[in-house]
Amino acid sequence: HIQVVNMQNLVLLAALVFIPGVTPYPYGPPLGACMSMFPKGHGVDAQKSPPPFEILVNSTSYREADVIQITINTTGLQGVSYYEGMMIQARRSACDLDKPTKSHGKFSLQANEWFLDTMDCENNPQSAVVHKNHSHVESNVFYWTAPAPTGHIYFIGTIVKNKTLFWTNVLSPLIKDVNSNEEVKACSGVTSIHGCPLTSIIILLFSAILFLR
Ligand SMILES: *[C@@H]1O[C@H](CO)[C@@H](O)[C@H](O)[C@H]1NC(C)=O
Ligand SMILES: *[C@@H]1O[C@H](CO)[C@@H](O)[C@H](O)[C@H]1NC(C)=O
Ligand SMILES: *[C@@H]1O[C@H](CO)[C@@H](O)[C@H](O)[C@H]1NC(C)=O
Ligand SMILES: *[C@@H]1O[C@H](CO)[C@@H](O)[C@H](O)[C@H]1NC(C)=O
Repeated sequence: HIQVVNMQNLVLLAALVFIPGVTPYPYGPPLGACMSMFPKGHGVDAQKSPPPFEILVNSTSYREADVIQITINTTGLQGVSYYEGMMIQARRSACDLDKPTKSHGKFSLQANEWFLDTMDCENNPQSAVVHKNHSHVESNVFYWTAPAPTGHIYFIGTIVKNKTLFWTNVLSPLIKDVNSNEEVKACSGVTSIHGCPLTSIIILLFSAILFLR
């Protein structure tokens, strides 16, 4: 009898150990993916080719409390016509940051959103957008409310076509903080943090040049 009770305790203990590892988003990424934005569980590397997705924005500058509309779009490059998962964050573009992996501002979703959810990365409420469903979608719209002046930012995404085919470092144009005197440029630090492909850096630099004109 005692042994049976012990078995039950063991099962209970095992359950307690495993429950915290279960994400509240049955299909979405775990909190542990916030900093790297890399889907480790997929067991393969990210694609090195230019991403067949784009992160479009309705404004390339912000003031505190501005709302920016973000559209994820599938461009059809490489025959990719949909995605089934993603994580998007807003990160600082400057170099020499204390916390380069911190996500800034607050995301919000359209009413009746069924594919996306927000996630509280590093306890910052709604600091990432993730999928919560594995349907195949071509496009999504969601919103970002700007924080107090934080410096220039960009949106960065990991977008997943399927388990073995995904792109990291999908970048939006730079979003300029209108109150910042910071130089508008892409940080080389992005490369070291994410192993940013050269193409993404070029796109980011190109965006920076557009701002400087
Ligand atoms: C961008 O979209 C948001 C949400 O729809 C809107 O509140 C904001 O005014 C738009 N910004 C611009 C510059 O059109
Ligand atoms: C999304 O990409 C497709 C294919 O390149 C393009 O035709 C469409 O205009 C894009 N949508 C937006 C909102 O830019
Ligand atoms: C995604 O959500 C839609 C709408 O609620 C549902 O019909 C579909 O079965 C879901 N798909 C998956 C793979 O969860
Ligand atoms: C992912 O899609 C590619 C083609 O786009 C296919 O070759 C590959 O087998 C798919 N992987 C999985 C796990 O379905």
